[in-house]
Amino acid sequence: MAELFSPFTLRDITVKNRIAVSPMSQYRAKDGHANGWHAVHLGRFALGGAGLVYAEATAVESDGRRTHGDLGLWQDAQIDGLIPITKFIGDEGAVSGIQLGHAGRKASERRPWHGETPVDDEDVSERNEAPWTAIAPSPIPYAEGWPEPVEMSEADIERVIASFGEAARRAQEAGFKIVEVYAAHGFLIHQFLSPIANRRRDRWGGSGENRRRFAVEVAKSIRANWPEAYPLAFRLSTTDWLEGGIEVEDAVETAKALKTAGVDMIDCSTGGIGGKDRPRRMVIEQGFQVPFAERIRDSADIASMAVGFLWDAKVCEELVKAGKADMIALARELLDDPNWPLHAATKLGAHENHSMWPIESGWWLMKRDRLLSKLGIR
Ligand SMILES: Cc1cc2nc3c(=O)[nH]c(=O)nc-3n(C[C@H](O)[C@H](O)[C@H](O)COP(=O)(O)O)c2cc1C
Repeated sequence: MAELFSPFTLRDITVKNRIAVSPMSQYRAKDGHANGWHAVHLGRFALGGAGLVYAEATAVESDGRRTHGDLGLWQDAQIDGLIPITKFIGDEGAVSGIQLGHAGRKASERRPWHGETPVDDEDVSERNEAPWTAIAPSPIPYAEGWPEPVEMSEADIERVIASFGEAARRAQEAGFKIVEVYAAHGFLIHQFLSPIANRRRDRWGGSGENRRRFAVEVAKSIRANWPEAYPLAFRLSTTDWLEGGIEVEDAVETAKALKTAGVDMIDCSTGGIGGKDRPRRMVIEQGFQVPFAERIRDSADIASMAVGFLWDAKVCEELVKAGKADMIALARELLDDPNWPLHAATKLGAHENHSMWPIESGWWLMKRDRLLSKLGIR
């Protein structure tokens, strides 16, 4: 049996295989509410055989959205739109997860295809989408041309920490079984973690312990509102790839502190703190972030997820088999082929006769295979 298709259990939740759908913002929500787009976008991955389907970065407060199109769970009214989605995913044998986040100084951004620049007058005139003021640990703009965010007061910090807990409670009511906290890619929690964005001199900045405090308090706030039986994961940028930024050793310490606060798995990404230009040290090739997942798993003794530029089923199988990560997450490869897990199962010999497919497709594909081989075509 291929390791990629072996089950994986965290707390009381068992995922049928090691393949996760990486969170992917769709920028299609209205006032944070989910709709049919999200249902089809996420549902097709459950039909395609992924074990864990993560919904996109979902804002814990309205001003914590990155764009006007982000999903939100800052009010109870946003729960209902998500219920049919989690029900469908669960009924089709996958586990539904949600990523909770706050954009911090990257809030009020235009959608990628509108330029990924701060929301401006054009958005107001064309879409009636107004800019808003971003908050951050320190008043340092994200990049050149970005407005200076407002430095968070102690009250702001306490409010956002509490809002993560409240959003987790809503996520449970919506039917999600795993929460992942977005502490990567230059968003608010990463801004606290990285000395590049955090210049505070109070208990929320300075030493590693102080910079980690916000992430740890968010984990505790969620744990107080999220069932003991359900897993809690964090996505970290395990390096900033930049001088003076987070290095993997810091990320190991963060993972250890999070584990103590009740976190069960670290989703190991990198980068995103310092503008859109790719740092010189960041060399992209298939699985380039896998060594970080391996390091976190070994040094912090916590389950890890590998993500980033993975597409070859054999590469994914080997990395799980070698114990470099417990799970893998795919994003763009699944946009290209939502049935990637089912095709990977065929390549790795994990099933025969399309047995992992939903019967409504598998039955026909099995018959077509027989015909193709009878005709000597394949
Ligand atoms: C359309 C799209 C939206 C994304 N949105 C998110 C997001 O909401 N949260 C997040 O952590 N990463 C997000 N990412 C990053 C992916 O989750 C993933 O880490 C990255 O694309 C690398 O994986 P890949 O090479 O398999 O695409 C997004 C990526 C894409 C392509």
